[in-house]
Amino acid sequence: MLKSAPIGVFDSGFGGVSVLIDALKRFPNENYIYYSDNGNAPYGERDEAEIINYSVRCAKYLKSRGVKAIVVACNTATTVCLPLLAEASGVPTIGIHPAIEVASDIEGNGKIAVMATLATIRSKRYHELVEASPCASRIIGIPCIGLAGRIEQGIFGDDDFNDLLDNYYTQYEGVEFDSIVLGCTHYNFIKGAITKYADRKLKGGRKLISTNDATLNELNDVLIRDKMINDSGSGSVQFVTSGCYEKIRPIFDALMNTKD
Ligand code: DGL
Repeated sequence: MLKSAPIGVFDSGFGGVSVLIDALKRFPNENYIYYSDNGNAPYGERDEAEIINYSVRCAKYLKSRGVKAIVVACNTATTVCLPLLAEASGVPTIGIHPAIEVASDIEGNGKIAVMATLATIRSKRYHELVEASPCASRIIGIPCIGLAGRIEQGIFGDDDFNDLLDNYYTQYEGVEFDSIVLGCTHYNFIKGAITKYADRKLKGGRKLISTNDATLNELNDVLIRDKMINDSGSGSVQFVTSGCYEKIRPIFDALMNTKD
């Protein structure tokens, strides 16, 4: 395998673009293939068998493209079936998990909201992560039904999600939240909407925690271990979607230009 072989990154759709953006900042010489399964998104309200089927297909596609490693930029696919994806790909396969550990390190007695898809919150892996946390009793898993689906429509405005956020948070009126874990990569693109809502409606410090860093640290370790860092060349990104390319590509391009 050549060092210049691409790194495959995939998600059900646009969410993983946030991971790709961070990966490009950190490893700018690498060549990436981003596989966006928009034709089957969102994954998070599907049953486990469907999630396994679609995400194994993504991993196999990237394998067929000769990738040297795969980043599963999807908490849902990771929590439901990461070991199966590693098996299907035959290359180092790095997942993304809700950053419960990072949230647990933040001092405080308030609650920790973990916003994620229904499938993530239901998964065995998610429950293991919560049980392993010293702050298990402070963690509230919030299945954000409909949220990734709306983002998939290309909606990202700060005032476009209040109805859904009300659905998730009205039952926690008066509860103090020290942190809010963005346990789905799609939510990185609506930090503005979540922050604005939290400022108006939620109590506590409400620090937003993204999950991308830990995944990229792991990618770094794997590339160093396997002596596979691409230290020459200017890097590239190839975009592939299972959805309608003409409709999806402009949204991908707009997201790639977003500044955090
Ligand atoms: N972006 C994905 C995640 O991190 C999946 C969202 C979805 O397709 O429901 O979980």
